[in-house]
Amino acid sequence: MWTPKRDLVTMHGAEAAAIRAVLHSAHLDQWAGDECTGKTVANLFFEDSTRTRVSFSMAAGSLGAFAVDLTAQGSSMNKGETLLDTAWTIESMGFDAIVMRHAEDDAAETVASRVRCPVINAGSGRVQHPTQALGDALVIGEAHARTEGWDFSGLRVVIAGDIISSRVAGSNIDSLRALGAEVVLAGPAPMAPDGFLGCAVARDFDAAIADADAVMMLRIQFERGAGKLVGSREEYIRGYQLTQARAAAMKADAIVMHPGPMNRGLEIDPLVADGPRSRIRNQVHSGVRVRRAVLHHALDR
Ligand code: CP
Repeated sequence: MWTPKRDLVTMHGAEAAAIRAVLHSAHLDQWAGDECTGKTVANLFFEDSTRTRVSFSMAAGSLGAFAVDLTAQGSSMNKGETLLDTAWTIESMGFDAIVMRHAEDDAAETVASRVRCPVINAGSGRVQHPTQALGDALVIGEAHARTEGWDFSGLRVVIAGDIISSRVAGSNIDSLRALGAEVVLAGPAPMAPDGFLGCAVARDFDAAIADADAVMMLRIQFERGAGKLVGSREEYIRGYQLTQARAAAMKADAIVMHPGPMNRGLEIDPLVADGPRSRIRNQVHSGVRVRRAVLHHALDR
């Protein structure tokens, strides 16, 4: 998970011990507030974000670090500057860490390999969103009392919807399996191909969620062309929306998750999103806690 210079670009191949160390730290979430005083963090967001960008800024500030946001709009990338020239420019200013989101699958890895400061991937293309997965694991562990040891053996997590567009799915599959959970994917074949990343894939959503401990709904990513992958809206809702009836049929202690932003009324019924099983707002809060732990580790050099 962490490279020697403390980049966090992927959950692929992450060791359970490294994930558990971050979860333990984020679960305690005990900081004096000056751990990273004098440190600087550049948030380079070349795709839109609400949760991730704001929570990295908030996390940095609550550790005493100073965060600066840069978005594509208004940056010299609009004048044709390349991603690497932008990263080198930021590095030359003396920033202690770069947090970055980019539409290309390998953008964070490329930048991490070319700058000296730690790089934290805040979402790359369709493949990885490591800090989202860490925050989600924190929610699942706390909901199912797995905070002693963070061993998810015996837990079954269903990830449903637009899997192939989703970097959240990619990182969660890696992270949850490393922690010992069983991960089952559900969705129509164009969105959830058989054998995707080595997971079992269910077409019968009702059967899949019947014995799930957590059901993680994913947004249909129209901006990535996912609209072409589904038939009619009604057909999708019939097959894969997490409806009130489906939520009612879940196990008594099963939780509902969604990384956000949601298409309310499409992949999830609003009353389920706001209902008693929902941990969607906890996911947002966990994102801040996890990002504090991640930034502290990256900056504590
Ligand atoms: N879950 C997530 O990454 O949300 P944002 O795009 O708002 O950061």
